[in-house]
Amino acid sequence: MTRLPEPLSLSCADGSGSVLSYGAHVVSWAPEDHEPVLWVSSRSYYETGRAVRGGVPICFPWFGPGRTGDMDPAHGFARITEWQLAEQGEDTEGHAYAEFTLTPADVAEHLRETFPHEFEARFRVTVGARLRMALTVTNTGTGTFDFEEALHSYLHVGDSRRVSVTGLDGVSYYDKLAKEQRRQSGELTITGETDAVFAHRGEVRVSDPELGRTLVITKEGSDSTVVWNPWADKSVAMADFADDEWQQMLCVEAGNVMGSPVRLAAGESHILVQSIEVQELTAQDPAAHDA
Ligand code: BG6
Repeated sequence: MTRLPEPLSLSCADGSGSVLSYGAHVVSWAPEDHEPVLWVSSRSYYETGRAVRGGVPICFPWFGPGRTGDMDPAHGFARITEWQLAEQGEDTEGHAYAEFTLTPADVAEHLRETFPHEFEARFRVTVGARLRMALTVTNTGTGTFDFEEALHSYLHVGDSRRVSVTGLDGVSYYDKLAKEQRRQSGELTITGETDAVFAHRGEVRVSDPELGRTLVITKEGSDSTVVWNPWADKSVAMADFADDEWQQMLCVEAGNVMGSPVRLAAGESHILVQSIEVQELTAQDPAAHDA
């Protein structure tokens, strides 16, 4: 195991962030004059061979144990592989960005065998008042392949027990804990360990009365929204998670997972985008009465 080098800093007048080339992993972002939006555990490892616990891990080319249920490492090899920095600069709107690529040549040989396809993954992160992350996967080979992917964003919240997640009302989801299909009714609140994969394409809003803000999460090219909070017992069981830290985080992930993988024929590309913005909590937000 080798300690990871410092992340690349990205900053512009509207916001700043940082990203590790290991995993093309965004580890921080905040709009100018705002509290950090992404959460990283105080116990996270920063070592090769392990994923960073927090920020935005990229799950690819499978999610969790994969659709066969036996894939290793969990969430695919992308988050534990060094990506190549391809480009870095300022876009036409004055926002700082960096672009990283991953091809089979970057992947350790024993892991390459787990996904024997020719591909290029390109991840572009742009920071400003909004965090925008775009993962483009191209099939550079001659056959067709399927893959799963997720931008596994760990959001920093004041108290996960007090946030309201809206945008999922009426949406069906797979409860990974109960192992059954359910339907969300009304806003989602976190009242225990939560691990759910929603068949969902729209916007999600996380209203946070403690921090007085709403995180607005939008996406493109994504059929799945995953919501995860480990709650107390699971946090205690994880070595890279301090016992009470589940109270300060909530994962809202944009992806294409489980029953919704992406299929690419030779030469095709798919783009997954997740963007996060911060708004002041207003009287219309569901959790505002608790503030
Ligand atoms: C979530 C999964 O996306 O990630 C959970 O739905 C999983 O099942 C969680 O526990 C964390 O995964 P990991 O591999 O980073 O511990």
